[in-house]
Amino acid sequence: MRSLIDILDLSVEELDDLLKTANDIIDNPQKYSKSCEGKKIATLFFEPSTRTRMSFEAAMYELGGNVISMTGGATSSAAKGESVADTIKVVSNYVDIIAMRHFIEGAALVASENGDVPIINAGDGGHCHPTQTLADLLTIYREKGHLDNLTIGLCGDLKYGRTVHSLINAMSRYEGVKFVLISPKELMCPDYVLEDKDQDSFTVTTSLEEAMPSLDILYMTRIQKERFDSEEEYLRLKDSYILNPEKLLTAKSDMKILHPLPRVNEISVAVDDDPRAVYFKQTLYGKYMRMALILKLLNEAEDKNKVSLMPSDALSDEYKCTNPKCISQCEQELKHKSVIRNNKRRCVYCEHDI
Ligand code: NCD
Repeated sequence: MRSLIDILDLSVEELDDLLKTANDIIDNPQKYSKSCEGKKIATLFFEPSTRTRMSFEAAMYELGGNVISMTGGATSSAAKGESVADTIKVVSNYVDIIAMRHFIEGAALVASENGDVPIINAGDGGHCHPTQTLADLLTIYREKGHLDNLTIGLCGDLKYGRTVHSLINAMSRYEGVKFVLISPKELMCPDYVLEDKDQDSFTVTTSLEEAMPSLDILYMTRIQKERFDSEEEYLRLKDSYILNPEKLLTAKSDMKILHPLPRVNEISVAVDDDPRAVYFKQTLYGKYMRMALILKLLNEAEDKNKVSLMPSDALSDEYKCTNPKCISQCEQELKHKSVIRNNKRRCVYCEHDI
């Protein structure tokens, strides 16, 4: 039995297999319409969501399975102070697989350590969002025909944008992929995402205009208001990039524009009619990849032995994570754990330096 917490939990071969399955589902939906008969998914969402939760639920229904759902957190026992570990131990008794979104970084790893069913990380704070990346990969594959040899511009909030972190992790494993990181200085991508990658594949800039002509993919993102410590800082940065038809004049004619959505105002509505804009198609591709993922994880769950996603070299010692958004700061009796990576000590849950 396996969970999906970080996109790096899946090998490139497994990603390719998921893409193959999703493409087959698109071509032959009937073939899969009873694949999950008698199975249930729980969607546990402690943070707002439209696409991610509904596409998981639509995915399960289209596989012939059933869904139970908890949204908002305020109506669940989390509001009474229940830990993530306890919630997951309970919900594991009711369903065959769980998709969970939580506002705390590292909550998904704690869930996977405590569940008796596969856990899918549907977003853990500003940390990771692996199933959005599955949607992004299928979108890029279907729109460009390949995943290698692409220049990808990531624009907006690269600090708190969890979809960006997971997309970089996934795409940096394909041959010849270059990234242009476009953000205000205050919202640059965290070190823990970039550190172990080939540094030559990254260019950092604050200028979308400068980057535009070189891009095969432009991945726009929302400034993540809910993750800022200061409202003032958010207000200062919120309109850093607004994509409009004029800015696209210098873009390649076959560039594709992606966005995980929701959009606030970083893409003008006038761009929606541009044939390069694929962000609404991306939401449909997300459903197919989630179908492929549910099939894979339920299939592997036939073997009840749990594959732990806790790094095998994790140390429990006196080093404590100080990131206030980390699960180690709030979960009852959770031991702080760290690993050494690139000569730095890093929290296993949120990956921040200690
Ligand atoms: C993203 C998220 O939740 O991180 N949305 C999504 O899942 N499609 C992006 C965002 O909220 O800005």
